[in-house]
Amino acid sequence: MKIAILPGDGIGPEIVGQAVRVLKALDETFEMESADVGGAGYAAHGHPLPEATLKLAKEADAILFGAVGDFQYDNLERHLRPEQAILGLRSNLGLFANLRPAILYPQLAGASTLKFDIVSGLNLMIVRELTGDIYFGQPRGIRTAPDGAFKGEREGFDTMRYAETEVRRIAHVAFQTAMKREKCLTSVDKANVLETSQFWREIVIDVHKEYPEVSLDHMYVDNAAMQLVRAPKKFDVVVTGNMFGDILSDAAAMLTGSIGMLPSASLDANNKGLYEPSHGSAPDIAGKGIANPLATILSAAMMLRYSLNRAEQAARVEAAVQSVLEQGIRTADIHEPGLKLVSTSEMGDAVVAAL
Ligand code: IPM
Ligand code: MG
Repeated sequence: MKIAILPGDGIGPEIVGQAVRVLKALDETFEMESADVGGAGYAAHGHPLPEATLKLAKEADAILFGAVGDFQYDNLERHLRPEQAILGLRSNLGLFANLRPAILYPQLAGASTLKFDIVSGLNLMIVRELTGDIYFGQPRGIRTAPDGAFKGEREGFDTMRYAETEVRRIAHVAFQTAMKREKCLTSVDKANVLETSQFWREIVIDVHKEYPEVSLDHMYVDNAAMQLVRAPKKFDVVVTGNMFGDILSDAAAMLTGSIGMLPSASLDANNKGLYEPSHGSAPDIAGKGIANPLATILSAAMMLRYSLNRAEQAARVEAAVQSVLEQGIRTADIHEPGLKLVSTSEMGDAVVAAL
């Protein structure tokens, strides 16, 4: 098994380092090779997604990704910005299915900003389409408006679009995910306003015919945002487009107390995947040894399950994380009075010990 390790920027190297330790503790024979990505790719090779990095990612069985972005790269032209690395990996590798679970560990119920009874027992899965929508739609640009009420003025524009194949394949992933869970799927769109969403809904309804056991409902994205903070336990699986999924998954993550706890998987049609924490590079705390590595460690567990076919080892990693939380060991983001405050590497030590 060959795993590409792409630590990236900010806290990326610190948290990925701990996940690598966990993987090595499970199996010394994992072949792991690292490469620069994001700002680190730009600094070393002049491009956020250097050719050698893309090649390594293509050849590997799975990719463990940290995070990209740092203040010093904020003013680069768009095509050189660190974010282009993750967008380029997603589109070049066809990683269209993004699974973002939001699980509230009972030990962390007190760390949520929501009331205990609203979030206790929360376990939902966001299935976000990842290679289409307004993120990638053409045309896009900044130009002089050729027509309309503001003709002649500068304007910015993007294109929201989804092809039938794109909606169908993510709908299948979502229904299949629901079949393995509580068999409830909520499709989120803005069909009251957008053509793209009306089309999305039509296709999701059609794919539903193949999964009669799953109960399907539809929700407008504004309402879904409200329901996520009002009654999040009503959701089982949520399927939505790239843009809405980006926003809703951050909101869902925060329900669980800290975005530092949430893993993600981005899969292609053959379950090859890129695994990354749902949080970003947090440059403000980089290098301080205080970042929470659990989202990345849990992402490694998802990698074991989805791409490496090692469900038993995945479950062991997840149980080790539970056990560490049970022992009251906490990084700063999830710390509460009376519990043991540890650094990034001490958290890694604790997970390895629990394994
Ligand atoms: C995410 C991030 C990315 C996205 C950024 C870094 C391009 O916010 O993975 O949710 O918008 O998809
Ligand atoms: Mg995001």
